[in-house]
Amino acid sequence: MDAITMLRQDHKTVEKLFKQFEKAQDYPKEARKIADQVIDELSVHAFIEEQVFYPAVRNEMPDAEDDILEALEEHHVAKWLLSEIDGMAPDAERFRAKTMVLIESVRHHVEEEEQALFPEVRKGLKRKRLTELGDEMEAAKKTAPREPNPKAPDTPNAKASTGKASNGKASAAGQASNAGKASTGGKASTGGKASNAGKASTGGKASTAGKASNGGKASNGGKAVVGQASSANVAAATEAAAVGSSG
Ligand SMILES: [Fe+2]
Ligand SMILES: [Fe+2]
Repeated sequence: MDAITMLRQDHKTVEKLFKQFEKAQDYPKEARKIADQVIDELSVHAFIEEQVFYPAVRNEMPDAEDDILEALEEHHVAKWLLSEIDGMAPDAERFRAKTMVLIESVRHHVEEEEQALFPEVRKGLKRKRLTELGDEMEAAKKTAPREPNPKAPDTPNAKASTGKASNGKASAAGQASNAGKASTGGKASTGGKASNAGKASTGGKASTAGKASNGGKASNGGKAVVGQASSANVAAATEAAAVGSSG
């Protein structure tokens, strides 16, 4: 099948689920089931774009490089949200809000793909090539993960070329959770890692610190420590990705 036709079909499937989710506002259990389907669909869709479609476009249409890099970051953020939504109870206070933010952000991403990227690719790649890519994506769907893993490599050669970035992510996640612990348990100075956090944060990472300390405040109440830690993770990982890609 033609690659773009296939990706558009996926988008339609997901949009249908989004509408169902919006309608299920008063039925949390139903909403939870729909969210599970969203997680499944988007995890597979992101995987085949990241492993097949985006790398081919990047290779064969160098002008699309910036669009692809932006798309990868949008996927990254979406996968963090999905990974948080994945474990949420249907009656959790933030479940609906988090899923709605996911939906808004995916709609934006889909619009950019359909309005800008796909028409460019349609011009830039031959029909035969698009069919090959469609077949490759069809095959990739069979091995695609069905749950979100924002820390997994999002490019086919990630091990070789972005080793640093993924180390960066890992250590940033570590720092975030240290920060979380620090604010709860008072082990503020987890030595080297804390100072890494300091270094990493020279570029406006006040926001990590900010979140971590919010975490501290809320954890005075003894609640929501997990939620805070994970939002700190999101911020830290996003930053780390930025650090990784700039360094
Ligand atoms: Fe995408
Ligand atoms: Fe897409």
